[in-house]
Amino acid sequence: MELLKTVSETRQFVASQKEEKRSIGLVPTMGYLHQGHLSLIHTAREQNDTVVVSIFVNPTQFGPQEDLDRYPRDLEKDCRLCTQAGVDAIFMPTANEMYPGRFLTWVQVQELTEVLCGASRPGHFRGVTTVVNKLFNIIQPDRAYFGLKDFQQAVVIKQMVQDLNIPVEIVAVPTVREADGLATSSRNEYLTPQERARATVLYRSLQIGRQLIEAGERNVHSVREAMVKEIERQPNTRIDYIAICDPSTLVPVDQIKNQVLLALAVWIGNTRLIDNVLVEV
Ligand code: PAJ
Repeated sequence: MELLKTVSETRQFVASQKEEKRSIGLVPTMGYLHQGHLSLIHTAREQNDTVVVSIFVNPTQFGPQEDLDRYPRDLEKDCRLCTQAGVDAIFMPTANEMYPGRFLTWVQVQELTEVLCGASRPGHFRGVTTVVNKLFNIIQPDRAYFGLKDFQQAVVIKQMVQDLNIPVEIVAVPTVREADGLATSSRNEYLTPQERARATVLYRSLQIGRQLIEAGERNVHSVREAMVKEIERQPNTRIDYIAICDPSTLVPVDQIKNQVLLALAVWIGNTRLIDNVLVEV
C-alpha cells in the first residue's frame, strides 16, 4: 500500500494507474476509521481496480466553536485497517498541503445546504464541497463512495457533481450500525459510558417515526411529536433538529407520501450526533 502525502506524488500515482487503464475508486474520510468507513472501502474494492482512501481532517468544514482540535485521530490503526481491506493507496495530506497560504476559491451548493445540518453548521457544507472537489481533481476517481449516514452530504455532493459536470460516479452506501442501533461514528468516541447508553435514543426515535408511518399515520406533526417525546425522556439530551422531509430536496413535507426522510441531530451532553432513515410510504 502506498502512503501519499503530497499532491504531486499523488498525481504521479494516479497517472501510473490511468496509464495501466485501471479504474479508480475514492473513499474520502477524516480518518479514525470504523466499520462504516470499511463498508465504503469494501464496496469500492469490489467495483474498482484501484482503491484510494483519503484521510484528511478538513479544517474548513469545522466551525470556530466546533471539535476540530479534539477530533479523534489514529493513523497507525487506519493504515492497518486499510492494508487489511486491500486498499492500494492512502492520500493523507497536511492542512498546509491542501490549503497553502493564499486560498481564495470556494465551491458552494445552494438551498440543499441551508437546511438540516446546514442550518446549525453555517459554512460546513461549503468546506465539504470545496475539499471534495479538490480531492476529485487530485485523484480523478471513476467512482467515489459516500455513506448515507450523512444523507445530506451525499445529496449535496451529487448535486455538485451534476451541476459542475464532474466526471465521477457517486455511489451511496447504507448506514452501518452498532448492535443496539447506534450509527457507527468517529464522534461516538467522545461519549462517556452513560452517554453511550443514552445515544441509542436517536435510532429509537427514528424507529418510532417509521413505525407510526408504516401503521398509517399521515400527520407530520403527530409523527414529529412522538419522536421529540422519545428524545426528551432522556436526561442531558438536546434536540438540534428533527425533520420529516423530501429526500431529494430536503425540504420539510406537509404531507407524508411516496418516500420521506426522517432526519435528526441531537446533542448527547457535549457531543452532537446525527442519524436518519428513509421511509417508503
Ligand atoms: P467522515 O465523517 O470520516 O466520513 C467519511 C465517509 O464515511 C462519509 O461518506 C460518511 O458518510 C461515511 N460514514 C461514516 N459513518 C458511517 C456509517 N455508520 N455507515 C456508513 N457510512 C458512514 O464525511 C466526512 O468524513 C467528510 O465530510 C468528508 C466527506 C471526508 C469531507 O471532508
